[in-house]
Amino acid sequence: MTDTQTSPSGDDHPPSSWLTKKPRWRVAVLANIKDEQAPKPADVPPDAYADYDHIETINHIRAAIETDGHTTEFIMADGELPYALRKYKPDICFNIAEGLGGDAREAQTPALLEMLRIPYTGSRVLTNGIALDKTLTKRIWRDRGLPVAPFQEFTFGDEKLRPELKFPLFVKPAREGTGMGVDMKAKVENEAELRERVQYVIHAYKQPALVETFLPGREFTVGQIGRPDAKRFSRHPEWYEADGFHRLPILELQTDRSATPGIYSHAAKAQQLGEAGAPEYLCPADVEPELKKKLHHFALRGHQLLGATDVSRVDIRLDAEGTPRLIEINPLPGLTPGYSDLCIQAAADGISYEDLILEILYLAAGRWSLIEPRELPAEKPKKKTGPLK
Ligand SMILES: Nc1ncnc2c1ncn2[C@@H]1O[C@H](COP(=O)(O)OP(=O)(O)OP(=O)(O)O)[C@@H](O)[C@H]1O
Ligand SMILES: [Mg+2]
Repeated sequence: MTDTQTSPSGDDHPPSSWLTKKPRWRVAVLANIKDEQAPKPADVPPDAYADYDHIETINHIRAAIETDGHTTEFIMADGELPYALRKYKPDICFNIAEGLGGDAREAQTPALLEMLRIPYTGSRVLTNGIALDKTLTKRIWRDRGLPVAPFQEFTFGDEKLRPELKFPLFVKPAREGTGMGVDMKAKVENEAELRERVQYVIHAYKQPALVETFLPGREFTVGQIGRPDAKRFSRHPEWYEADGFHRLPILELQTDRSATPGIYSHAAKAQQLGEAGAPEYLCPADVEPELKKKLHHFALRGHQLLGATDVSRVDIRLDAEGTPRLIEINPLPGLTPGYSDLCIQAAADGISYEDLILEILYLAAGRWSLIEPRELPAEKPKKKTGPLK
């Protein structure tokens, strides 16, 4: 083979060796960036924009992509994005944009890219829109038989509490992430606390409040990469099981001694690993085989039922009986090396940060026909069963 296997540093790149021509893409990394200096508008809650990324994360993603010979550019996913895209003309976008507001903000950038017909990584418009809405997500999962805690959405705050919701309950904004709107007051013990918290969420976050049965058990987050034809486009086809998915090691969040005991809140997430107030991150979690199988199964079904693509992380807690209950799915999981849950899971699996980022890129490139599929060895014919008697 020609230069197709040689990286800029001259190392061999056997994983890409099926490609007759090594791709050199112009990759735009799209994100919303935290600006800690900028004053926040008066009408937003104190943890607003917590899900935006630090510029360092963008730089890590760009550096990872560049190790494979591509050129990159960071483009802020704000109102200027369409013009910047027209100027840069990317072959593909690495999308981690959280969006600017509204009821489906994580779907804004994918929707624009679809409109401009520009390829991009990860899940598409509908999945990102639904996944941001935890109530809608849970309705879909519940209707398809996945275990979720009993729940009810409050739009006004004075709705009658349904009888299946027994105290203690948990109240959170229906459409936030990164633990926004979640602190010790999210757990409510009686009607008065419930009404107060629901009103707070509705007014501070300007969206419905999702009320669920409080899940007192262990907390896990379960990540997966892949899709049925992942081996055809992957730089590491050996990672994938027969169904095309790679199940990352399960991460358990032990929050008993965190800033918010028992809850993986915004305050707990904001601490660096090992700092006072941070949860303990146990990966691979010490779980018995039966529970492990269930967690992986539910997470993957949750991913598939929402039509998520290539990568996601599903949060699961155990109820009072020890039964796993799906909390939510993150089709745009955080990608800060050494800090974000998915990166911790990949590292525990021996997957380097560069390989994780490039895998997400290559799987997308395959879906958008930027690379040719790898030939796979013919499957062994299934064993013949004897004639029917
Ligand atoms: N029903 C519940 N019972 C007990 N704790 C809960 C419940 N729902 C959420 N939590 C706690 O609140 C945390 C944040 O909730 P959730 O995962 O829904 O929010 P998020 O902000 O979208 O999270 P992420 O940072 O993963 O995007 C959970 O990790 C968990 O610790
Ligand atoms: Mg979560």
